[in-house]
Amino acid sequence: MSLTKRSWAEPFKIKMVELLKMTTPEQREKAIKEAGYNTFLLKSEDVYIDLLTDSGTSAMSDQQWSGLMLGDEAYAGSKNFYTLEKAVKKFYGYKHLIPTHQGRGAENILSQVMIKKGDIVPGNMYFTTTRLHQELAGGTFVDVIIDEAHDSENLHPFKGNIDLNKLQALIKKHGAKKIPYVCVAVTVNLAGGQPVSMQNLKELRALTQEHGIKIMLDMTRIAENAYFIQQHEKGYAKKSIAAIVKEICSYTDGATFSGKKDALVNIGGFLAVNDQDIFEEASNLVVVYEGLHTYGGLAGRDMEAMAIGIEESVQDEHMKARIGQVLYLGEKMQEAEIPIVLPIGGHGIFIDAKRFLPHLKQDQFPAQTLAAALYIDSGVRTMERGIVSAGRNAKTGDHYYPKLELVRLTIPRRVYTQAHMDVIAESVERVYQDRKKIRGLKMVYEPKYLRFFQARFSKL
Ligand code: F0G
Repeated sequence: MSLTKRSWAEPFKIKMVELLKMTTPEQREKAIKEAGYNTFLLKSEDVYIDLLTDSGTSAMSDQQWSGLMLGDEAYAGSKNFYTLEKAVKKFYGYKHLIPTHQGRGAENILSQVMIKKGDIVPGNMYFTTTRLHQELAGGTFVDVIIDEAHDSENLHPFKGNIDLNKLQALIKKHGAKKIPYVCVAVTVNLAGGQPVSMQNLKELRALTQEHGIKIMLDMTRIAENAYFIQQHEKGYAKKSIAAIVKEICSYTDGATFSGKKDALVNIGGFLAVNDQDIFEEASNLVVVYEGLHTYGGLAGRDMEAMAIGIEESVQDEHMKARIGQVLYLGEKMQEAEIPIVLPIGGHGIFIDAKRFLPHLKQDQFPAQTLAAALYIDSGVRTMERGIVSAGRNAKTGDHYYPKLELVRLTIPRRVYTQAHMDVIAESVERVYQDRKKIRGLKMVYEPKYLRFFQARFSKL
């Protein structure tokens, strides 16, 4: 027998396990009803496989855990701040670092420092907290992602790309002075974890430089984006993830970062910038919202763990296993002909709820409904990324009706096994078989901000 296929496996072994509670369908039915059919309101102990998010849910390495012991909990000038600053310079190349408690802390500071009332902030598809901070600072977010990103079946390999024609038209309409920066996310979460190409970043850099507009990166999942560039963009196959990450940063003026994703920590984030003036203003403001500029709401130990996690995140073997696991699950779903966003993205599988439940109208919340049905079937917790997440237009009060109505199965890093992936795929398949029986939801409580976190629903 000739061996044609060689399997790969994760580049780590498991030292500690966390036991999970098994529940019955009746218990889950009761739990989700009590949670107002919102998976955010479930108790985590009632969840079997938690795919709510990849944020803060990764498994830290032995190195990171031992890093916690090196925490220097001084109020000012902690050793760990300097370790983190060194890592940010080494792996990302930015000159100045301001730690924050997590990504949205950095988004708040950046938005307040750079956005004036009436400004326009173009971006490659919105992210919930990012757009809200831009709006709270008086700006208006405008989506300039390529059209392909809004089509779950389009196979463009870099669906996160900015449409430079859309951006150019925006500059012409409003003038460059009204655009403080372009906000570029790598990879694009709400498009399905879709990457941006290096070519697109270079062209964006050239266009924005002509007009004196800055580029601010949302670099939350930058190493994952780098993996896609390495795999799919001409000229990058032999470059390391680390080199690609640094090149991405080199075309930008600064970044906000949620360390809870790529950097493999449970809490942490930062704002990094090259510009001295922005740095000074941001350092001043961070004291108001987060803490002194050398800790920004983090314990010293958190900064140490994040510095170590940053280095681990850019290792080629790590990223191959990380994206490989997502791909494994995605391919299982494709075999079962489940409608998912393609190409398969970086941090999870996104089910197209409009195609999964075509009998539901969008204001019957198909993605929210499907997330609840999956939980009842198997205890797998997923997240709505559709009309509920999109919120309302502040001026008209109407729902935003996003083209993409998705359920996100987000895979935490280094946490679940291939057997867990099989269980998840089989649960989705089972719910798909029974999909015609599924009824929609109505919203019975709606919070004012970021409603998806706390909204409550009842069955129609
Ligand atoms: N930017 C992106 C692209 C994100 O995905 C997130 C968080 C943030 C910014 C904000 O960072 O949570 O540290 O304040 N995304 C999480 C998620 C919540 O589940 O996708 P944070």
